[in-house]
Formats: sequence, C-alpha cells, structure tokens
Amino acid sequence: MRLRLKIWRQGSPQDRGAFHTYELDGCDPAMSVLELLDHLNAQLRVRGETPVAFESDCREGICGACGLTVDGRPHGWRDNLPACHQRVGERREGATITLEPLRTGVFPVLRDLVVDRGVLDEVTMAGGFASVDTGLAADADALPVAHDIAEYALDMAACIGCGACVAACPNGSAALYAGARVAHLAALPVPALERGRRARAMSVSVDEFFGSCSGYGECAKVCPAGIPLGVVGALGRERWGAFFHPTRS
Ligand code: SF4
Ligand code: FES
Repeated sequence: MRLRLKIWRQGSPQDRGAFHTYELDGCDPAMSVLELLDHLNAQLRVRGETPVAFESDCREGICGACGLTVDGRPHGWRDNLPACHQRVGERREGATITLEPLRTGVFPVLRDLVVDRGVLDEVTMAGGFASVDTGLAADADALPVAHDIAEYALDMAACIGCGACVAACPNGSAALYAGARVAHLAALPVPALERGRRARAMSVSVDEFFGSCSGYGECAKVCPAGIPLGVVGALGRERWGAFFHPTRS
C-alpha cells in the first residue's frame, strides 16, 4: 500500500515549524499510526535524514504517551481509540494522511509531534495525594467498598492522561480529565476524606490553565479510556458539595 504522509516538522519549541510531505511505499493496512511512523523513520535513517520525533510507550492503549493529531482529529479516525490502536487500513491506497501534534495552546510543541503535557500533571498535583497515614497496608476487607462503587472508581481511574480531550475541545477545556480524577478519588473511602480540599485546589489549577466547558462533547468522542461525558461536571459538583457540606474537608 502506498501512502502520502504530510507531517509537521519542528526542530524546537522556538522553531516556526512546517508540514513536510513524504511518499511511503510498503505500508500495511494493519499497521498502527505509530508503526507507520516507524516505517517512515526507518527509511529516513537510510537516507541520512532526521527521523520524525513522536512519543510512544506501551502501544497497548494504557500509557497515553501517543497523543497526536491524525487527519485533524486527536488520536485518529475512530472514536475512543488511542493513536497506537488506529489502523492505517482506515484510509485507501494513495491517500494522504496528515500527522501533527496535539493542537491546544497549553501543550507547547517540543519537537515534531511531541508536545509538553506537563500542565495536566499540575492539575493532578494540585489535588494532592491521599495523605491519611494508614500505617501498614490494610487488609483488602477492612474497608468495605460496594462492588458498583469500586467498578465506577476503576472506570474513572482508567484516564491515561493523554490530553486528547483538551485538544479536541474548542475551548481547550480539561473538564473531562479533571472530572475523571476527582470522581475516582471521591468514590473511595480514604481519598474521599480530602474530597473538598482536593476539589477546591484542582478547580483553581484548572481555571488557571484551561478554558471552561461549554458542553460540546468532543472530548468524550476521542477519549481512548471511554470516560463518559457526564463526568465533565464532576469537579464543579465536588466543589459545590464542599461549599454546602462543610463537613467535607
Ligand atoms: S479523559 Fe480521556 S482523553 Fe482526557 S486525558 Fe484522560 S484518557 Fe485522555
Ligand atoms: S503508546 Fe501507550 S497509549 Fe498509545
């Protein structure tokens, strides 16, 4: 399969950057977007050219490193799949595939397709960690958690921090990401002891860096972890809950 790749090349954060076009033979429809870049880079190395920089780690949909924009959409053509699971077979022989970094003001481009998503960590760190000193790890049975609540917390913990939700949002909102983080911790007995303080601190951080949510819903369509759209209100609910229930620390 022959494809044309239009790829954003940018040597450093200070560079203006531009699209470069590459003709690529020998592509397999079963290749992922990342394997397509591997295939291109192998040829660039043979020609003595600089390979395209991109991020990847697990290539199994669990680390979030592979966030990039494929044909104008964070992660790629199919809903709720990370770039490492988006297959080239979605496009026909001879098609042009455009690859660029996640496009949102809070993720500066470091090089080619690699962006700095550290601002997401700022939000999580603002929330802090469950700081209750529980001594040795308690027996799993010592703190009963209803099965459906444990399942819900696990579903929220599935967010892989890829940043696609922010890039997909016309407002650059991190409501889905932050909502998943607070909803996960508020559902569990020990982290919930600090739910009020956490929600207030994360709200300040989110307001500082990101736009507000207008309910477009683009975030949930691209989220590879399947975080549901209803979670965008979780941070606000937690913050107001702390306001009306002073017993929530
Ligand atoms: S909520 Fe979904 S799209 Fe947003 S960072 Fe988490 S996994 Fe990625
Ligand atoms: S490389 Fe880990 S989620 Fe894609």
